[in-house]
Amino acid sequence: MILSVINQKGGVGKTTTTVSLGAAWARRGRRVLICDLDAQSNASTLCGVRDSASSILDALLDPSGEPLERIIVPTSAPNLFLAPGHRALAGLESALRDVMGRESILAEILEPVRHQFDAILIDNGPTLGLGPAMSLRAADLALVPVQCQPLALDGLEQVSNSIQMARQRLNPKLQRRIVLTMLDARKSHGKAIVEHVRKMFGDEVLATVIPANAEIERGVLRGAAALQPSASSPAARAYSALADELLPPPEPQESAASNGAASQPTPGKAGRPKAAPASRKK
Ligand SMILES: Nc1ncnc2c1ncn2[C@@H]1O[C@H](COP(=O)(O)OP(=O)(O)OP(=O)(O)O)[C@@H](O)[C@H]1O
Ligand SMILES: [Mg+2]
Repeated sequence: MILSVINQKGGVGKTTTTVSLGAAWARRGRRVLICDLDAQSNASTLCGVRDSASSILDALLDPSGEPLERIIVPTSAPNLFLAPGHRALAGLESALRDVMGRESILAEILEPVRHQFDAILIDNGPTLGLGPAMSLRAADLALVPVQCQPLALDGLEQVSNSIQMARQRLNPKLQRRIVLTMLDARKSHGKAIVEHVRKMFGDEVLATVIPANAEIERGVLRGAAALQPSASSPAARAYSALADELLPPPEPQESAASNGAASQPTPGKAGRPKAAPASRKK
């Protein structure tokens, strides 16, 4: 299962959701790859990976040269892997301006590795440019975090239109789910927004609502703390519930075999991915 975590609105919880969900699935024994497609590289930072020599950008710019497998690095959490981001992702659009079929490049580079993981989560930056378009082309599911605050609905129509357009032009199987984030139960507008979004989007809105959490807000959860949060934190409990609500099935053994991957006794759980740690260029 490939998920694109997407919303062109900044600061709505895309990166926190990507990393928290990925870490929660990894704790459940699923093998998870996080692709950091944002020039800010916040997902890489939260995963404790900084200044990686290679990034997903290398594979996007040279799909036949640099296989994604060589770029993927392990994190400190078992089962959780990262294709690191890079600040030069900001120039992705202009770098690929003349490349035909550029929206398909991410799907193309993920294809050889997708059966090594039960879930691939793509963290997008706050745009609806080429990166997010590529991720919608590659994904089975677009997951849209919506912050429970009054201005959150601005722009929700825009991301919805992009998903609809991606479905028509790039990826007919694409599904959409909305996750409400940063609900402050002390503020009356929060609940009103939850109700409003549920009325607008019905079953596409996930049951789990992520509460506002002071620890996350202070940005103290990084590296091991982000990947292994305290079970007493309400937001961590909510992300656990979200992980159960969206739990991907283990990748079936047949597809791994048909993709040429070595067969494994318990697919989706045993062994290491074939992905080798990225080489550290000096
Ligand atoms: N549940 C939460 N409670 C409190 N603060 C949160 C919560 N989730 C995220 N935050 C904080 O809100 C800010 C934005 O979150 P995050 O980086 O996940 O959003 P984003 O949508 O990825 O942002 P960007 O669009 O810049 O990539 C961060 O400082 C983060 O620590
Ligand atoms: Mg982000």
